[in-house]
Amino acid sequence: MMKTAIVIGVGPEDGLGAQLALRFARTPLHVLVAGRSPDGLEAIVSQIRGDGGEATAVPTDATDERAVAALFEAAPGDVDLAIYNAGNNTPGKLIDMSADYFEASWRVCCYGGFLFAREALRRMVPRGCGTVLFTGASASLRGRPNFAAFNSSKAALRTMAQAMAKEYGKDGIHVGHVVVDGPIGGEKIKQGFPEYAEKLGDSGMISIDGIVDGYEYLYRQPRRAWTFELDVRTSEERW
Ligand SMILES: NC(=O)c1ccc[n+]([C@@H]2O[C@H](COP(=O)([O-])OP(=O)(O)OC[C@H]3O[C@@H](n4cnc5c(N)ncnc54)[C@H](OP(=O)(O)O)[C@@H]3O)[C@@H](O)[C@H]2O)c1
Repeated sequence: MMKTAIVIGVGPEDGLGAQLALRFARTPLHVLVAGRSPDGLEAIVSQIRGDGGEATAVPTDATDERAVAALFEAAPGDVDLAIYNAGNNTPGKLIDMSADYFEASWRVCCYGGFLFAREALRRMVPRGCGTVLFTGASASLRGRPNFAAFNSSKAALRTMAQAMAKEYGKDGIHVGHVVVDGPIGGEKIKQGFPEYAEKLGDSGMISIDGIVDGYEYLYRQPRRAWTFELDVRTSEERW
C-alpha cells in the first residue's frame, strides 16, 4: 500500500498548501488534503486523481482536537510525511486588539501545530520513521510593529518544532521548519492585495514552486544529514 502524506492548510490551487499536496502526490504518496473549505479541497483532489495520483479530501479545522485526530485516522497507509501549513496573517495594533483575536491567532498558528504534531508522533514513533514539516514566516524569527499576534504565534510554533526535532530525532523522526521570508507569489497576495502585488511584481514575490522544492529536499534527506530549518526569500527581499 502507498504511504500517506497529510497536508493541512490547503486553500486555493495557486497557493502553497495546494502545491505541496500536488507535489507529494507525484512522489508518489497518497495525500490527505486538509483544510476548512471542502470545495477547494475537492478541486485539488480531482486534479491529483486526473494526473494519476491518489488523494482524499478531509475537511478539518486545525484547531479542533477531535477533527485532527480523525484526520490521521483517515490515512489509508502509514503516515510518512505530515505538513502543517495552516496559518493566517493576523495584523493589528496591540492597544486595540481583542483578547479573542490574539488567542485565535495563536490557535491556528501554534496550538493547531501542536495537535497535528502530536498525532503524527503517535503514529511515527512506534514505526521509527517519518517526517513532520512546518510552514514558518518572517514572523517566526522577529517581532514587527502591528504584527505582534502573528509574530508571537509563529515564533511559538517554531520553538515547539525545534523542541520536537530534538526530542524525537533519536526515534527516527525528522522535523523541519521552513521560514518563508516574504510574500508568496500566489492567489492570497495577488487577489487579496492586488495593489501590493502589482508594486512587488513577480520578481518580488517568492516562487511557490521554489518553496515546494525546499519541502521535497527536506523530505528526501537521509537520516545522517538532516536539516531542521530552511529559509526562502526572493533576491529582492530586504532582511
Ligand atoms: N501568503 C504569504 O505571503 C505568506 C508569507 C509567509 C508565510 N506564509 C505562511 O504560509 C502558509 C500558507 O499560507 P497562504 O496564505 O499562502 O495560504 P495557502 O497555502 O494557499 O493556504 C493555506 C490555507 O490554510 C487554511 N487554513 C487557515 N486556517 C485554518 C485552520 N484553522 N484549519 C485548517 N486550515 C486552515 C486556509 O484555508 P481555509 O480558510 O479555506 O480553511 C488557507 O487557505 C501559512 O502558514 C502562512 O502563515 C504565507
